[in-house]
Amino acid sequence: MTDENATYQKAKSGQPLALEKRDTTEDGRRFSPSIGRNKDVVRDAFLRVMPVQGSILEIASGTGEHGAHITAAAPDLAWTYSDIDPVSQASQAAWRDHEGHQRLSGPLTVDTTADHWGDAETQAPWDGLFCANMIHIAPFAAAIGLISGAGRLLRPGGRLLIYGPFARDGDIAPSNARFSEDLKRRDPSWGVRDLDLDILPLAQRAGLELLKVIDMPANNFSVVFEKA
Ligand SMILES: C[S@@+](CC[C@H](N)C(=O)[O-])C[C@H]1O[C@@H](n2cnc3c(N)ncnc32)[C@H](O)[C@@H]1O
Repeated sequence: MTDENATYQKAKSGQPLALEKRDTTEDGRRFSPSIGRNKDVVRDAFLRVMPVQGSILEIASGTGEHGAHITAAAPDLAWTYSDIDPVSQASQAAWRDHEGHQRLSGPLTVDTTADHWGDAETQAPWDGLFCANMIHIAPFAAAIGLISGAGRLLRPGGRLLIYGPFARDGDIAPSNARFSEDLKRRDPSWGVRDLDLDILPLAQRAGLELLKVIDMPANNFSVVFEKA
């Protein structure tokens, strides 16, 4: 079954927040074409740099595929989905039920722009936070909240991995520049962020040290922070 018109959150332009067509199985699991392309490399980067035992809170879990794929490869990892979008949360619940182990939970409702993240606060401290492809498809307040939430809710030594496109100190790959312009046409508050100019100052204020920036396919990055 293909669903092109799901009731996603709408950008200011009125366009759906999801940027691509997603397929849905009978049991409600949704599939994103871009995750189909990147899930192996994202998993492999995660396994190299993030805790593989303990608790991970995923922010903006979307279809839920990353959590299912990573926990399948990390048998000692407990993963909690979260999102603000009920359609996405339904897919996350379907992936949780489909996977047949007890290490996927949630979805929690976490809006990173909120001062308090509800149950994600009471379940803290987390060993890791993971967030893929959100901060350019949301107002900058979502990035501010993500970083300060990581500073607040990670245990000392806990890690945050942010995956997605970035500019670097004013330089941006042409494909990311075009993507950013396209995002801004959809919603002027969206756009590809500059890791060095926009994100690192927030991380410093939140007590997060930049550990690693991993080049990923298609001009994406996996950016890893550690809480002091
Ligand atoms: C492009 S999708 C990415 C989904 C998934 N992480 C992936 O890699 O495909 C963006 C996700 O961000 C979520 N989102 C947008 N604004 C948010 C916010 N302020 N707090 C938490 N999630 C948010 C949306 O509901 C959506 O699931």
